[in-house]
This record gives sequence, C-alpha cells and structure tokens, in this order.
Amino acid sequence: MAWRHFDIDADQLLGRIEALGEVGRDDTGALFRGVYDQSWLAARDQLEQWMNELGLQTRIDAVGNLFGRVDGTDDGAPVILTGSHIDTVRNGGKYDGALGVHAAMSAVGAIAAAGAAPRRSIEVVALCEEEGSRFTSPLWGTQAMLGLIEPDVPASLVDVDGVSMTDAMRAVGLDPLRIPEARRADLGAFVELHIEQGGILEHEQVAAGVVTAITGQRHLVVTVLGKQNHAGSTPMDMRADALRGAAQMIVDIERIARERGRPAVATVGRLNLTPGSRNVIPGEVQFTVDIRFPDPDGLASLQREIESAARAAAADRGLDVKIDDVIQSAQTPVEMNSEIQELITAAAAELQVSSIPIVSGAGHDSQLFAQHVPTAMIFTPSRDGISHSPKEYTPIEQIVPPVRVLASVLWELATAESLPASPR
Ligand code: HGY
Ligand code: MN
Ligand code: MN
Repeated sequence: MAWRHFDIDADQLLGRIEALGEVGRDDTGALFRGVYDQSWLAARDQLEQWMNELGLQTRIDAVGNLFGRVDGTDDGAPVILTGSHIDTVRNGGKYDGALGVHAAMSAVGAIAAAGAAPRRSIEVVALCEEEGSRFTSPLWGTQAMLGLIEPDVPASLVDVDGVSMTDAMRAVGLDPLRIPEARRADLGAFVELHIEQGGILEHEQVAAGVVTAITGQRHLVVTVLGKQNHAGSTPMDMRADALRGAAQMIVDIERIARERGRPAVATVGRLNLTPGSRNVIPGEVQFTVDIRFPDPDGLASLQREIESAARAAAADRGLDVKIDDVIQSAQTPVEMNSEIQELITAAAAELQVSSIPIVSGAGHDSQLFAQHVPTAMIFTPSRDGISHSPKEYTPIEQIVPPVRVLASVLWELATAESLPASPR
C-alpha cells in the first residue's frame, strides 16, 4: 500500500489548543463546558470559524453537533468521520475530547490543503456532549447520531440548577423534538484521536496507542430516602438519616470494588443532600456510581453486588432506596474494528511513529459508534497519566506524530477500494 503523507502545522494546532482551553475558564481558573451552556456555545462558534477558515463546509445538526466536511468525488459513498467531544468534566483539562477535534481539524485541513479530492467524503465532528457532566446524558451527541434518544428523555433530564435539557436546548436555538433528524445512516467509518488518560504510553516511551477495546461501564444514580427532621430534638435512635445510609453504601461500594481487584473500579463522584442544612437531618441523598470492568459478565455481577449492598444498607436502617441505571445499553465493553487497527499500526510504522496496542479504561464516543459503524481510536500520551484534572497535559511534540498518522489513515479510508464491514 502506498501511504500518503500529510504535513501538520504544529504552531496552528498548538495555538488552537491553547485558545479553546480558555473558553469556559471561570474566575478561579477552573475549566468547565457543560452541554448547551454559554461557554459550550462559544467553543462551538470558535470551532466553526476555524473549520470555515480551513475550507471545510460546516453544518450543525439537530442535537448541536458541529460538522466540517470535505466532499468526496463519489456523492453516494459512505462518509469517513473523525473527531471527538467539546464538553468537559467540571474543573477539567483542555485535552480530553477537545484534542480529538483539534486533531481532526488539522488532519482534514491538511488533506483539504493538499488539493486532492478523496473518493469518499470526510467529516470532522465536534460532538456536543460526551461526559454527562451537566445532565446525566453521557454520549449524548453520539446517541443522537445513532438514533438512540427516546422522545421523552430531554424533558426528564435536569441539571443541578433545575434547568431541563429541553429548556437548555431551546436556549441555544435547538428544538428537542427534532433530535431524530440528527440520525446518520451514511457513516462508513469513525476514527477518534484522544489522550490516553493513563500512564502506559509515557511509561513505555511510545508515541501512539492503537486502541484494541474500551472497558465497560455502568452509571447508577442512587436515591436514598429517609425522614427529614430536627437535628436537636430527634434522638439518635429515632432517626431515619438518609446520609447515614448513603455513607454506609459508599463505604460498601469501595470495599466491593477493592475486593474484586484490578481492573474493577467503582467511584462515587457526586453527592447531593436534601435539604442540606446544618440543623436538619437529611431526608434525601442522591449520589452517582460509576462502575467499570472490561468483561460484560464481570461488569454485570459487580453491579449486582453493589446494588444488593445498597439495598441491604437501606433495609438495615429503615430507609428506602431507588437505583436508576443510566443508558445501560451504551456502556457495554466493545472491541475496536480490527481492520482499522491494522491500518493505524501500518500507517504509524510507515511514518516512523512508534505504537503499541492498548485497552482504554476511559469511556469514549467510540464505545457507542463501534456498535454501529467500523470504529477505531488513536491515543496520544498523557503526562503523568493524569486526566479529568486541570493538570492534563500533552506537549505538542507528542501530539503532531499521532495526528500525522490520523491524516494518513483518513486518506486511506477515504480512497480504499472497500471499507471494513459494518458491525450491524
Ligand atoms: O468517563 C469517562 O471515561 C470519559 O472520560 N467520559
Ligand atoms: Mn472524559
Ligand atoms: Mn473524552
């Protein structure tokens, strides 16, 4: 195979990473872009402007995903898609998600600048939402593109300020009733570049990771219901303190995951107390549980053990507990497309970029795309293996080589005789 090489403008790429990394930074210096909030909108506008400057045709779909397209010569051919998400976790970093969009713009911009039209169209996507940080809606942009959002969902999701997803969408000019229009049936492949978010590439001193599989995860929302009452006049033996029950559950969750051993992990990342007053026994506590394991049966049994421990802790103390499992179907462990993995490995070898196969412990849009479209991922190193933190960092010298690999792989996919078979 004759690989095509593309030049990546490192200064332009670095300038964009730094500039977008300031969009959504608050007075304390913390970065947060929640889907449909003002910083998110500013980030999407900025990206649209950059895509236009690169000569890409831009379009925003019904859920708020942004696309930049280079037309192929074969109109009806399946589209080659690349990109990642533009939302962040709270107090997050400027690389998680955003780097995949920057990389896609640089790679597709380089292809457009080279002047040769590919046979299949190539599109850059800035997915509107992946983290589920504002609403419990992880992989929202991808779910919409795959037609997986039920009509009643936007009204049922509410952020910490009590704003519904429906209202949040309307506030940025989107109509939730039109979400089904975001569905794409014309995708031939998806390739996502992302930071590793772990320390393996750095430890192995390797330039790129070729992702073989993505671990499975479950997101639970646990609501513990007790009796709100006076903190002074209610004896300790007459209380139904929702927080005491939740505390027991949280200790049990940590113990269960530890006892399973690596790679099992379970995290309680958010906790809300109601009413949240010094002198009131909490009547209701809600917390999230993020559970991960790479094998579907192991993941299911870990979830069952956690749920039964929570029910036992509630029963012990005369509390009620409700456990909601958020978008279970989107969270199964998945393998990346083996043919695209081989292409990435071969392109890396051709471009003298060292690479190793790697399993992703983090979740990604690719996890959901892979169940419907041939999908693969390229990882760049993460300094000190840190992510979901303002300390996230990858130097530009470690970004450019994997982006060159991405460009060559996209070109190959857009010009090859045939594409890998679709998983369904
Ligand atoms: O939570 C995750 O693994 C991803 O970063 N959203
Ligand atoms: Mn993330
Ligand atoms: Mn991410």
